[in-house]
Amino acid sequence: MSVILGVGASLPPRLVTNDDLATRLDTSDEWIRSRTGIRARRWVEPGTTTSDLAVDAGARALRSAGRSTVDAVVVATTTPDRSCPAIAPAVAARLGLVGVPAHDVAAVCTGFLYGLANAVGLIASGAARTVLLIAAETFSTILDPDDRGTAVIFGDGAGAVVVGEGGPGIGPCVLGSDGTGADLIQVPAGGRHFRMSGKEVFRAAVERMSEVALDALARAGLGPADVDRLAPHQANQRICDAVARNLGVAGSKVLTDLDAVGNTAAASIPVLLADAAAHGALKAGDRVLAVAFGGGLTWGAVTLTWPDVVADFGVLGQDR
Ligand code: UT7
Repeated sequence: MSVILGVGASLPPRLVTNDDLATRLDTSDEWIRSRTGIRARRWVEPGTTTSDLAVDAGARALRSAGRSTVDAVVVATTTPDRSCPAIAPAVAARLGLVGVPAHDVAAVCTGFLYGLANAVGLIASGAARTVLLIAAETFSTILDPDDRGTAVIFGDGAGAVVVGEGGPGIGPCVLGSDGTGADLIQVPAGGRHFRMSGKEVFRAAVERMSEVALDALARAGLGPADVDRLAPHQANQRICDAVARNLGVAGSKVLTDLDAVGNTAAASIPVLLADAAAHGALKAGDRVLAVAFGGGLTWGAVTLTWPDVVADFGVLGQDR
């Protein structure tokens, strides 16, 4: 069994509102809010990298866990600073963790849950007793500024957890993929910009997230009535609402921070959890169901018994 020992998150300081975007795109605050639930997002300044956010979130999670070392580092990202090598070894080194195994996981918006399965697996195999899992993204660096279908949706951020031995904590991780839909969310070969077929992705997200969430509950011996907090990937408020409805989980139990951060891809779930824990929406002992869907296509879900930890949620460069 594995358990979360600490949680942290880091957002870039620059706030970009819907009105800011409407000054140069054919869109409006009203359209963005009513179709997605997003009011604002955080974007990095030029020169700030995914690694910068990852290091800050990782340091915060270590501080939350009350430790300075771990046995392994996993970084989930779709927007690494460079395509080769993985950024995890460099992130680990900047955290003073030279010598530990470190690798990246690429599963787009399901990255945190794929990474969590990696972390739990490293512990179960005996390769590590503690793992720092960081999910970090700077989607602003790959967005097409002229594509109103994607430019308004994505934000930058990083979230991290320290995973260790013990329980009850992290339930069975259920993951899936369908590469026949790989073209629906992609940066085309040779291209610089991210592309998404929003409508198809929307439909698939609701269907897959609902299915895999029920699967993860069943694998943990639980049902929807046992869920205290639903932590859905923050893709679109209408997707989160539809999934909650399909599961029969009351809206009051659904965690959300989409309005303030947008869709931060792999970082979405740990940023949401850190925010909720830091601001009282998530308490020790709460049974959490986390569920995600993203490019690949990929999807996943897991149940967590929320630990007694003080989350460290902050802004890059401001308060650590
Ligand atoms: O994180 C990984 C998973 N990602 C997701 O789950 C995202 C899933 N998809 C979505 O959230 C939604 O499909 C979007 C928010 C991307 C788009 O919302 P939609 O309600 O599906 O809109 P649509 O693409 O069907 O477009 C409807 C209309 C179109 O205009 P016409 O053709 O009806 O004249 C679009 O051109 O809305 C237009 N539109 C916009 N208008 C103002 C699209 N984006 C915008 C915009 N502002 N930003």
